[in-house]
Amino acid sequence: MRTIDWVNGAIELIDQTLLPQRVEVHRVTELPQLIDDIQRLAVRGAPALGVAGAFGVALIAASVQAEHGDDELDRDEVRRQAAILREARPTAVNLSWGVDRALTKLDAGAAAILDEAVLIRDEDIAACISMGLRGADLTRELAAKDRVSVMTICNTGSLATVERGTALGVIETLFEQGSLIEALPLETRPLLQGARLTAWELERMQAPFRLLIDSAGPFLLSRGIADAVFIGADRIAANGDTANKVGSFSLALAAQHAGVPFIVVAPESTIDMRTASGADIEIEDRGVDEVVGFGGTRTAPAGIDAVNPAFDVTPHDLITAIVTERRVILLSRGETLESVSLESLRS
Ligand code: MRU
Repeated sequence: MRTIDWVNGAIELIDQTLLPQRVEVHRVTELPQLIDDIQRLAVRGAPALGVAGAFGVALIAASVQAEHGDDELDRDEVRRQAAILREARPTAVNLSWGVDRALTKLDAGAAAILDEAVLIRDEDIAACISMGLRGADLTRELAAKDRVSVMTICNTGSLATVERGTALGVIETLFEQGSLIEALPLETRPLLQGARLTAWELERMQAPFRLLIDSAGPFLLSRGIADAVFIGADRIAANGDTANKVGSFSLALAAQHAGVPFIVVAPESTIDMRTASGADIEIEDRGVDEVVGFGGTRTAPAGIDAVNPAFDVTPHDLITAIVTERRVILLSRGETLESVSLESLRS
């Protein structure tokens, strides 16, 4: 089952707010629905947001064409609506990347935009397979072991992409290759992407795992529970600083203290060379409600204030390696995104 796809003229996506209780597909035919689905995290995870952005532009183009009934697409109107979609969530660069890439086909018309979005979907599927293989090889090499236990945070699996996942895709590959002792996902407060989504995915793949409360992660690393930590990414700055789900930074600090490799797994589309460092990354604040209660039940006193950054930034000097579908950048050995550039790989 695909997390997000284009089916008979509209976007279909699994509504992740209902998991793990119910698997329901939401059909999206209008832009306001898509923006709402992105903001309430019915569709979430950086690569899936990239695909949502591209299919969103296809949806906009089709509806502008249908409304105006002209042979010629009203390009200004498509651009205007796409600009709104682009801003639906600020931290994952993939959303604006997907929108912008689909817009490159604007002059060629609505059908060409859809073709580009479908290509982005297919590239995502292939990229995840490649990241899984590269990441699994690297982990065995860095851990100097054939079988490993790995800690992870949030959800970076098939639900965060189209079909397979980034960091959780590496865990799935290790499992398929007989190299996984166990996965150790953190619950991921406040919206529990780890407990609700990653645990659901690990169970479906029948991989061995134990769920951890967030605050146990750093301590258990110091006790040697894991051979590596894998995270996904929402935006990787030019210097390697990485924005990902809040809690990643604490894990990176603890991993360094414990001497455990800390590995970022993300597609090339998550690298933002126009952002110099993590200090320049906008971090989404999701407001008070998610902190003071869960599932409609208030857990904190009424009327209190809260801070709720959805992401944090791990400085590049705490990251052992970044794995993409094209390259492995060993930051811990002095490599950089520029020194292991795609250009250098081609030559
Ligand atoms: O707020 P979310 O659930 O969209 O946050 C998702 C994450 O932080 C993921 O780790 C990241 O997007 C990478 S997904 C492969």
